Amino acid sequence: MQVLTTIQELKDFKKSLIHQDTLGLVPTMGALHKGHQSLMQKSIQQNTHTIVSIFVNPTQFGPTEDFNKYPRTLEKDCEICQKLGVSAVFAPQITEMYQKEDEITLNPPKSMGYVFEGFVRENHFNGVLQVVLKLFNLIQPHFAYFGQKDAQQLLILKRLVQDMFLPLTIIPCETIRDADGLALSSRNIYLSEEERTIALEIPKALQKMETLFKQGCNSSKELIAQAKTCISHVELDYFTITDYNLHITSTPKHNEAIALIAGKVGKTRLLDNLWF
Ligand code: PAF
Repeated sequence: MQVLTTIQELKDFKKSLIHQDTLGLVPTMGALHKGHQSLMQKSIQQNTHTIVSIFVNPTQFGPTEDFNKYPRTLEKDCEICQKLGVSAVFAPQITEMYQKEDEITLNPPKSMGYVFEGFVRENHFNGVLQVVLKLFNLIQPHFAYFGQKDAQQLLILKRLVQDMFLPLTIIPCETIRDADGLALSSRNIYLSEEERTIALEIPKALQKMETLFKQGCNSSKELIAQAKTCISHVELDYFTITDYNLHITSTPKHNEAIALIAGKVGKTRLLDNLWF
């Protein structure tokens, strides 16, 4: 496995690929957990080569967010990638990815990028779009793998591909959970034992919602009210049901809606969701 840190090294790697090879990209910010590993495994199964990018992208963090504190574990991450059979890791420095002070930026659709996560985290999705477009252009993968756990990000990136006619396909991958139900996230390491127990209110609420939906309840109001009975300590930012354009829906339908939940446990923000 190659570890590439410059754009030139990446270009040389790309040159070594054969024309009919397919290339899968798994974009990450490192601190790789089993969730990332499942994306990598899917890409490895489906493509001749897989590149994992590891880059803690400064433009998607707000000024008071955890950019400096975000876990950076490159050596361990590379070991994981190598064991799984990744062809190359692309781990550039900030100056490699952002070469100018004042660059072109991208705005997400107004109706999708400034609600929910985009409301709580101002300009977060502008930063995500900017870095992901750079990665797509540099790496030119055939397929790019993103977790359903970051549902809003996934839906906005699908729009990036559609709206900009990008020649690649986004492959959504299922959320991976710990045995206790908590969705895997690099930020879970911030949780104390006590906070982790509180955090479990989130998957419990979503499980309750799913059970009720499967039993025939299709009123968002009712589903949210019932699910909220599981939440007593998590400080909710939002808990809502939308369609895939992130428009709030009163009657979720199978394969057309998601429940989005985010909240704080102590200082840690947690996201989760249910794809109906
Ligand atoms: O989901 C993430 O880890 C990041 O938002 C991404 C897609 C790698 C862009 O920095």
